[in-house]
Amino acid sequence: MKLSIIGAGYVGLVSGACFAEVGHDVACVDVDQNKVDRVNRGEAPIHEDGLEALLRRHVGTRLRATRDLAAAVRASEMTFIAVGTPFDGKRIDLGYVRQAARDVGAALRDLGRYHVVVVKSTVVPGTTDDVVRPLLEEASGGRAGVDFGVGMNPEFLTEGVAVRDFMEPDRIVIGGMDERTIAALARAYAPFRNVPTFGTNNKTAEMIKYTSNAVLATLISFSNEVGNLCARLGGVDVVEVMQGVHLARYFTTTLADGARVTAPITSFLDAGCGFGGSCLPKDVKALVAHGEAAGQPMPLLDTVIQINLKQPQRVIEMLERSFATLRGLKV
Ligand SMILES: NC(=O)c1ccc[n+]([C@@H]2O[C@H](COP(=O)([O-])OP(=O)(O)OC[C@H]3O[C@@H](n4cnc5c(N)ncnc54)[C@H](O)[C@@H]3O)[C@@H](O)[C@H]2O)c1
Repeated sequence: MKLSIIGAGYVGLVSGACFAEVGHDVACVDVDQNKVDRVNRGEAPIHEDGLEALLRRHVGTRLRATRDLAAAVRASEMTFIAVGTPFDGKRIDLGYVRQAARDVGAALRDLGRYHVVVVKSTVVPGTTDDVVRPLLEEASGGRAGVDFGVGMNPEFLTEGVAVRDFMEPDRIVIGGMDERTIAALARAYAPFRNVPTFGTNNKTAEMIKYTSNAVLATLISFSNEVGNLCARLGGVDVVEVMQGVHLARYFTTTLADGARVTAPITSFLDAGCGFGGSCLPKDVKALVAHGEAAGQPMPLLDTVIQINLKQPQRVIEMLERSFATLRGLKV
């Protein structure tokens, strides 16, 4: 298929390179000329294992970068929007997504054939249907469901191992406003065989992404709360506590041949410094803010964030209780 991807950042560029690897013809669009030039030279502007090898293999044949959004969109059958969605302290900032939707919509004007627009950015539930779709209709002069389809396809990659995560996904979530959109997205992902593919509506696809991150953040804060109590009580080691917990049959299964398999989820059930990175804190805060705005506060997730904010200081306090000085200490 011919694909265009708006935003050549972590998600957009990795997706573009991997889609090219499985045989699609991909144009990655970015406003950043430097990024575009580097990609077209086969250089990865970000460090991701295996990304540069994919660029070198496909740039010039199935993959290219460009600033010309309109030409890229019009030459493709499907456009992914993969621009940033930062959290501004109160809510998720949809400014980049709105701009991209307007630009894509304008490019679709008078195209004369069906196109599918897919939101890949992480956006709060309702954004694809209530924000992106009307902007596309307004800018294109066309009708969603007739002239173009609107879908939502969240990305679950982890920075650092993003190429592996994309090429070997645990699941593919495909949201769509109708069956035609879902079928088109399923075609784009057809080369990823034997991967559970979950078709649903756009709002549910958006919620799956937030819920996936929120549950991991919750387990981390839970483990840290337990760890903080263990440290305060003394004589009880949270590492051993969690080892004992991991042995429960819910976490460790005995296979038919007697082998014991521990679920990867247990790595989120260990005490530590808290969660960081570019996604988990931002996404949980955005979900809590969205719940508040919708009249459905989320006190559990709010506390998950509060525990996490205090955790680095808690760790320092514990170290101060155990060592005369932290100067020069390596932990
Ligand atoms: N980074 C991750 O690990 C990760 C994982 C899953 C989901 N996500 C989500 O994916 C989305 C993108 O994240 P990212 O980390 O790739 O962001 P990023 O900041 O690395 O990349 C965004 C890119 O979009 C470009 N851009 C912005 N507006 C544009 C426009 N109108 N036209 C063309 N290009 C434009 C920017 O120049 C930038 O290169 C976010 O919603 C994020 O939450 C990120």
